[in-house]
Amino acid sequence: MAEPYLVIDNIKKEFPRRTEAPLRVIDGLDVGVEKGALLSILGPSGCGKSTLLNIINGLDDVTSGRIVINGHEVSVKSRSKLKIGVVFQDSRLLPWRTVKDNVRLPLDELGIDRAEADRRVTYYLNLVGLGDFGDYFPLRLSGGMQQRVSLARGLAIEPDLLLADEPFSALDEITARKLRQEFISIWRATGRTVIFVTHNIREAVFLSTRMLVITPRPARTHLDLDIDVPYPRTPEDDRLFEIEKRVTRDFIAMEEASV
Ligand SMILES: Nc1ncnc2c1ncn2[C@@H]1O[C@H](COP(=O)(O)OP(=O)(O)O)[C@@H](O)[C@H]1O
Ligand SMILES: [Mg+2]
Repeated sequence: MAEPYLVIDNIKKEFPRRTEAPLRVIDGLDVGVEKGALLSILGPSGCGKSTLLNIINGLDDVTSGRIVINGHEVSVKSRSKLKIGVVFQDSRLLPWRTVKDNVRLPLDELGIDRAEADRRVTYYLNLVGLGDFGDYFPLRLSGGMQQRVSLARGLAIEPDLLLADEPFSALDEITARKLRQEFISIWRATGRTVIFVTHNIREAVFLSTRMLVITPRPARTHLDLDIDVPYPRTPEDDRLFEIEKRVTRDFIAMEEASV
């Protein structure tokens, strides 16, 4: 059988500490992700989710194991071979650049020519509903709009993989709901492979085709669940509620067992 698009092959990650034994953050994570999936990774705070995304993004190396994306092994050294888009909890926009220029910046870094960069800036700002806000400065936009810009910036490089690190968790619930719906539409329109990290069970169930529940630090797979509810989904769907209830019970039991 062909290798999955993203392979997380038995990775371990430790951070050295000065006086104590190294801090083990990931302890044998093994996952294959198919192209086009929207995989959510759910885990308690501090369990190693952002560390995992940094490793997938080639910003940090594993202690052992490997990450392979589309046949390329990822490491800090081989980072430039792959295009990986990232959206964080805070938008990380440059306040002194306009919205357009923020989206354009990574395109310039990739050496994309001017006409194509113009096309993509326009296309992706329209896709996130901000076609009319290109000349605004980020601080004049609401938090939700800033996250949309950040998403447009992540998509504009037309990434092999899009990593989302709790992108909606700093937003109010009404805005987050809206953005989750939009995120699904955009994912369906672009067909990108997405890894979406969250500590919000409802969000993970609502968004994803598959969810991975990971244990408190060190991170291991606790549960690997396909979510076979067709899109478009509504948050009030009973099938999603049932899955959410099941995962919540299981999550609480896991946390109680770990203290
Ligand atoms: N660069 C680092 N050096 C040392 N420890 C780190 C580093 N990055 C993260 N950690 C530790 O690893 C653990 C997991 O962090 P993180 O991946 O940010 O968790 P999460 O994103 O799941 O909340 C935490 O205990 C954190 O303090
Ligand atoms: Mg984190």
